[in-house]
Amino acid sequence: MLVLGIETTCDETAAAVVRRHADGSGEIVSNVVLSQAAHAAYGGVVPEIAARAHVELLDLVIAKAMVEAEMNFSRLDGIAAAAGPGLIGGVIVGLTTAKAIALVAEKPLVAVNHLEAHALTARLTDNTAFPYCLFLASGGHTQIVAVIDVGGYVVLGTTRDDALGEAFDKTAKVLGLRYPGGPEVELEAARGDAKRFTLPRPMVDRPEPDFSLSGLKTALRLEAQKIAPLTAKDVADLCAAFQAAVIDIVTDRLRVGLRVFRARFGEPRALVIAGGVAANQEIRTAISSMAAGAGVPLVAPPGSLCTDNGAIIAWAGAERLARGLSDTLEASPRARWPLQPPVAPLTPETQP
Ligand code: KG4
Ligand code: ZN
Repeated sequence: MLVLGIETTCDETAAAVVRRHADGSGEIVSNVVLSQAAHAAYGGVVPEIAARAHVELLDLVIAKAMVEAEMNFSRLDGIAAAAGPGLIGGVIVGLTTAKAIALVAEKPLVAVNHLEAHALTARLTDNTAFPYCLFLASGGHTQIVAVIDVGGYVVLGTTRDDALGEAFDKTAKVLGLRYPGGPEVELEAARGDAKRFTLPRPMVDRPEPDFSLSGLKTALRLEAQKIAPLTAKDVADLCAAFQAAVIDIVTDRLRVGLRVFRARFGEPRALVIAGGVAANQEIRTAISSMAAGAGVPLVAPPGSLCTDNGAIIAWAGAERLARGLSDTLEASPRARWPLQPPVAPLTPETQP
């Protein structure tokens, strides 16, 4: 099964062709990601600029993905687009484009939940069996999710305020680093002394696997203000202290998350990490030893598939099509679209 996937929910304009084999394994045939550079000057994504850039770039990105895959639309088995959650202007561009292709090429459309795409990536890369425990940490979301089946998600824990990626981005902004902040903070942290500043670890030791990050962010800002103007060493040390706090928080919350998972769903087949923050090498290493201690195999897709791209959208589309699930051309773009309640019924029979 061959599926074209389109991703436009934030500031990546992306398209990919993915193949799903009969045994359920996946293969990326092409994967084109264009990260919009224009937002860096504003310290964050500007929705209007993003939407206009998607309009300008998407045709080219899709054409490139199709050429690289040596594909034409008639050979595809379906067209998938991220239909949300995300910045609505961009979502409309991607979904409308997918509808046009589906209509003209007479192929089924799949309106994919972007979070579901992150949730199912481990099955594309590692053919991971259900059920598994997912840690999704991106710019907009921080969740621990029990992934029971395609369309079957139970959110075990979430953030009460900022998302993890957002905390990285805001930290970068306070310290005068570029957007997106995650990679910048990681780079600085590698040269810094994590012990010079003591930052709080909110929620650690709490019995429910939730997150709270605004207190950490504020504590960092106060420390930075105390010693301003910042030297390069100050910035590196603050980044190191921030990342060390994040690592303590994440490993503690995941330990609790796995405990809750086991109590409700039995033994998870894996702990899977996804979302942009999962591209952070230090965080990956820390989660890896935590998982080893908890006796759960870790599945960590490559960083390039943790951040936003078309391949994960195409894959989620393929997983749905393989179960007889597709959407009509009436499918709506959605700015908000939580994973739970289930993003769609589990069988074609129960589909509306
Ligand atoms: O999944 P993603 O590409 O887009 C969303 O759906 O949000 O995640 C982007 C987020 C940004 O907040 C970015 O700063 C963060 O992921 N991020 C990182 C790293 N790379 C990206 N955070 C920490 N360390 C990184 N290396
Ligand atoms: Zn994402």
